[in-house]
Amino acid sequence: MTTSPLSKTTISLHWIIALGIIGMLAFGIYIEDFVPGKLADGSRNLFRGELMMLHKSIGVVILTVALARIFWRMSEGWPKPVSVYHKLEKMLAKAAIWLLLLGTLIMPLSGIVMSQAAGKAVPVFGLFDLPIIFPESKALGGVAHEVHGIGAWVLIAAISFHIVGALKHHFIDKDATLKRMLGSKNIS
Ligand code: HEM
Ligand code: HEM
Repeated sequence: MTTSPLSKTTISLHWIIALGIIGMLAFGIYIEDFVPGKLADGSRNLFRGELMMLHKSIGVVILTVALARIFWRMSEGWPKPVSVYHKLEKMLAKAAIWLLLLGTLIMPLSGIVMSQAAGKAVPVFGLFDLPIIFPESKALGGVAHEVHGIGAWVLIAAISFHIVGALKHHFIDKDATLKRMLGSKNIS
């Protein structure tokens, strides 16, 4: 079976989103778990506010790139597998990829809903605020907050599974799946 290389756009979009999402998951958990909202004297921790603004801004950029990536995938079609695999393996890999694609949309969208429902603007690097789309609502904010928190852990599980799959292709099947996503020319 001949292996066709992936387009430069597919490879670039994959790694921009991969680094962006993994970085944002770590960043979000860091802010939540290690940066308190209040200082010892009871005043608001402004540093947390600044980190949160950065988190929101990067999230909006990731949402834009994720949308572009999904349009690209729809126009280009799915990459052909490099070899023939067991039906179950193909199904699991596809399920993980759908979760990953959904996650790249749901995480920033739920973040935006959570912020706007709490009556807070979504600033983009201090340049402008996103227009208000979602109304202030405790209930809506609560759901979005849950989705953002649980979604993060579902996404971490899907990414871990996806990475184990990529390593299995490389080290056990010894095929070109990972090499072609890394842009290697030596894939036949
Ligand atoms: C170090 C981390 C990662 C590695 C090693 C990796 C590796 C790979 C490889 C080898 C493929 C090609 C599969 C094929 O040819 O069928 C792939 C595809 C894919 N990966 Fe990853 N990946 C990583 C992180 C991520 C992350 C964080 C996401 C999204 C949140 C993601 C989303 C996707 C998607 C949607 C595809 C399908 C092809 C496409 O639309 O570009 N990957 N990945
Ligand atoms: C790539 C997109 C994003 C990822 C992967 C991500 C990830 C995370 C993670 C992992 C947390 C910590 C959750 C927890 O431990 O409960 C978090 C918290 C948070 N994120 Fe995001 N986020 C993204 C985009 C956004 C966007 C676009 C916004 C708003 C516009 C946003 C607003 C928030 C807020 C307000 C919190 C704190 C929630 C709280 O106070 O409990 N996020 N994010």
